[in-house]
Amino acid sequence: MSNVIILGAQWGDEGKGKIVDLFCDRFDIVVRYQGGHNAGHTVQIGAQKFILKLIPSGILHPGKRAVIGNGLVIDPAALLSEMEALEALGVNVAAQLSLSNRAHVLFPYHRAMEHMLQAIGTTSRGIGPCYEDKAGRRGIRVADLLDRERFGEQFEAAAKEKETLARAFGIPEHVDVPRVRAEYEALAERIRPMVCDTARLLNDAIRAGKSVMFEGAQGTMLDLDHGTYPFVTSSSASAGGACTGTGVPPTRISAVVGVAKAYTTRVGGGPFPTEALDATGDQIRERGHEFGSVTGRPRRCGWVDVPLLRYSAMLNGMDSLVITKLDVLDELEKIPVCVAYRAGRREVADVPATSRGLETMEPVYECLPGWQTSTAGISRYEDLPQNARNYLAYLENRTGIEIGCISTGPERSQTIVRPGSRFEQLFCR
Ligand code: GDP
Ligand code: IMO
Ligand code: MG
Repeated sequence: MSNVIILGAQWGDEGKGKIVDLFCDRFDIVVRYQGGHNAGHTVQIGAQKFILKLIPSGILHPGKRAVIGNGLVIDPAALLSEMEALEALGVNVAAQLSLSNRAHVLFPYHRAMEHMLQAIGTTSRGIGPCYEDKAGRRGIRVADLLDRERFGEQFEAAAKEKETLARAFGIPEHVDVPRVRAEYEALAERIRPMVCDTARLLNDAIRAGKSVMFEGAQGTMLDLDHGTYPFVTSSSASAGGACTGTGVPPTRISAVVGVAKAYTTRVGGGPFPTEALDATGDQIRERGHEFGSVTGRPRRCGWVDVPLLRYSAMLNGMDSLVITKLDVLDELEKIPVCVAYRAGRREVADVPATSRGLETMEPVYECLPGWQTSTAGISRYEDLPQNARNYLAYLENRTGIEIGCISTGPERSQTIVRPGSRFEQLFCR
């Protein structure tokens, strides 16, 4: 059986939730490996729209095991409210969900600390400061939270330290320690039944012949190491994170599938060479409903960036690419694609290491003719208009990665799987 990673190839919101939900059927377990409730993965089933933040998108399949790995940072209140919302819709979350005892716990002081940091347009969920504590070896993990004897002391020491820091920064906001302590002690009892050693659970399952789908959050260009630093998130969103964030070794990973939009978006600050700051950019935002599923912020919109996709394919060892939201481009007369960057007279094929370097790159565009007819809901490749097929073939040639799946709308049925592709082999056979 195969264990496959599905991850974002761009700056997040590529449509990972839809793809995970749609293709997780033949996997036994779906696991999230990094991030926190900064993620917002949309699954649309008929008129019903689910936005998953911490819980893997596979949860909507009855009986499927969903795992939150050690690589995540967990706000227990956010987790429980997400569970309640799903349970109200008839999903049996408590029976299906397992939470790693090694995941880190997010506290209100993490959110408060985020305001002290350099403004890069984060989601204000406290994600960065929680990962900072993890890397600084002063974090509190789920197993610590469940330790009735030690948690109170540990929390009070951590809160005191944060209070000193906040005072030094002149931040008036402070945490009501006894209240938060009692709140977290109560939350601990509610999550306790789901907590276990998920690395053990996953490795035992794999050894028993079960298959695992890894659901990435954010996207490769938001990866802490490989993204557009410092305008990134604080976790490893690329393929490597699937191993460190779950305890499943690299030798057990069978394939990696990237998800990219038929254009590009990004939320928050940071370089975006192909950003369309004109009326066409606004048109894409409106047609694609490009407003954040977590914060509601308008997403910045622009064109496909081939050097960036090639970089992402290289870092992730991508076997196949899913192109989503093709239908959003339906009305355009022509579609620019960035094929290289120019720095002065020099053409550059690689993504520079610094955000400043990327900002100074000038994209070199090639323009492809649009198809100006609806592709919404098309589910067979041969039914796509010729120019849409040409566009996809062009991206495939330029990136060097097969496009195995194309999404033509938010719903499950609005999807094309290319016959004979590696993607079909991984998910449909
Ligand atoms: P994720 O974070 O990668 O799971 O993506 P989001 O859920 O944040 O954003 C993707 C948005 O696009 C959601 O509102 C989806 O319902 C929607 N969507 C996904 N695929 C398609 C598609 O092919 N066409 C259109 N029009 N919308 C899509
Ligand atoms: P999904 O999983 C898009 C962005 C934020 C900000 C930067 C750092 O739905 O694709 P953070 O709060 O993580 O410290 O913010 O990362 N960001 C996302 N952008 N999709 C996401 O998740 C994101 N999660 C974080 O906007 O620029
Ligand atoms: Mg999202």
